[in-house]
Amino acid sequence: MSKGTYSFTTPIYYVNAAPHLGTAYTTVAADTVARYQRMNGYDVAFVTGMDEHGQKVAETAEKHGMSPQEWCDSMEPAFRDTWDLLNITYTDFVRTTEPRHAKTVQKFWTDLYDKGYLYKSAYEGWYCVHEETYYAESDLLKDEEGQFVCPDCKRPVQRMSSGEENWFFKLSDFQDKLLAFYDENPDFIRPVTRRNEIVSFVKGGLKDLSISRSTFDWGVPLPFDEGHVAYVWADALLAYLTGIGYGDDSRPGEFDQRWPMQYHFVGKDIIRFHCVIWPAMLMAAGLPITHTVFGHGFLLTKGEKMSKSKGNGVMPADLVKIFGVDAYRYYFMSDVQFGHDGGISIERMVQVYNADLANTWGNLCSRVPGMNSKYFDGVVPEVPESTKHLVTENPLAELAAGLYEKYDACMTDVDFSGAAAAVQELAHRANAYIDETEPFRMAKDPEKRDELAAVMYNLLEAIRIVALYMAPFMPNTSAEVYRRLGLGDITQVTDIQAATAWGQLPAGNPVEKGEALFMRLDESEINLDM
Ligand code: MSP
Repeated sequence: MSKGTYSFTTPIYYVNAAPHLGTAYTTVAADTVARYQRMNGYDVAFVTGMDEHGQKVAETAEKHGMSPQEWCDSMEPAFRDTWDLLNITYTDFVRTTEPRHAKTVQKFWTDLYDKGYLYKSAYEGWYCVHEETYYAESDLLKDEEGQFVCPDCKRPVQRMSSGEENWFFKLSDFQDKLLAFYDENPDFIRPVTRRNEIVSFVKGGLKDLSISRSTFDWGVPLPFDEGHVAYVWADALLAYLTGIGYGDDSRPGEFDQRWPMQYHFVGKDIIRFHCVIWPAMLMAAGLPITHTVFGHGFLLTKGEKMSKSKGNGVMPADLVKIFGVDAYRYYFMSDVQFGHDGGISIERMVQVYNADLANTWGNLCSRVPGMNSKYFDGVVPEVPESTKHLVTENPLAELAAGLYEKYDACMTDVDFSGAAAAVQELAHRANAYIDETEPFRMAKDPEKRDELAAVMYNLLEAIRIVALYMAPFMPNTSAEVYRRLGLGDITQVTDIQAATAWGQLPAGNPVEKGEALFMRLDESEINLDM
């Protein structure tokens, strides 16, 4: 029985460059949620995609001597392949150039036009193509020559001509409604620092938003005024609706089941679009609003925001080659606190890999099956009546009993490092339990045979449970550990809470020793600067 739907999105990424560590970060986070909530009994929708329209993409295409459409088509494999490499289980991949998405955009804005939320007016203002954002003159900075530059990326801004008429969305009408909404929905913007930033921005007053362009045709045409295409953000945000079947007759009922969503995961750079413009658009359309926009921090390398343009050239595939996909995912999720900026480095990645994976989780997975093949011929031991009490009462069972509650609270809150720490605690405790019980000593004493069976059983059972809770971070490793324990396909688990109850590992299951899961790494042997 499904607990219901659980739906969320990553941003729909610009296609002017291949996915890098920053875009992969948001996507891996969303995938961790997807995998966990499936194991937790929810019917998950996970929408990602490519943001293909707008001036920036058109300019990039031109630089490459391609039409915008050709350029976008050529970029699709770069995205899909990276997400496959990282084991991303999205449920829809929306390309904003798809006809189904044009239908969404046209339907949505025609509805707002019919409802009187749009008006046409001459436009004068400043635009940054790189950020695809309009700025008030008072927000601009000046470069050394006194030219106006973008306050975000510091590139020159363009003056949009006064002769051109554009369609405007009456965003200013929503100032009070938005403030009331933030008030009534304290979880709408997280973490709280971003919430404060948005509240004070909206209190400062909202201007109407130009949502169309006519000097330029790389976009979705607006049906009520030919020759106008939707502004790239007035197009891209709606991909969240397309991705769950809005207005799509081939997916009957799906949109109503999945909207509103639980989360939009975005970087802090785009929270104004998601926390001001987007909810106002939804209010105007009479649609409910997503429960939470979570604006995570930036990945920093050498103290600076990591980005393709400033790039150090390290791509996800480079790190996967060294660490493997599971350790890649684990590092970013466990070591960078979601919501905060986080420094990343090879040095730190190696430290986390060696400490948490090679020395703790990997070590447990090689020691225990190794001992078990010596003492019980590689089969999960049957625990005799005389020591059954040691299976019900032991420190590992006790810790495992509280694990679901702790981990689930973290995951629901998207505190990935907290969730990772909760499962690591059990792996640590199991290693310590080996040191305390000393099975290698017991094995020498025939009188301790029954006790040894209980101890080995407890250790194997702890491994099973750690594998379950590591699976959202490290799907391949957990699947392999499950296999080694003679268990079925871990991706079929849909009630992780029930699966946590102690004592479910069947006696008699074959336990395979297998190769070491993680070989210790030496930083000095890694030739990659990050
Ligand atoms: N196309 C828009 C989003 C439209 S959503 C309706 C866009 N695309 S983007 O390709 O520029 O992606 C921006 C997102 O990439 C950020 O919000 C964030 O999720 C991720 N990141 C890019 N650089 C990043 C870091 N250095 N660190 C962490 N995440 C970053 O904006």
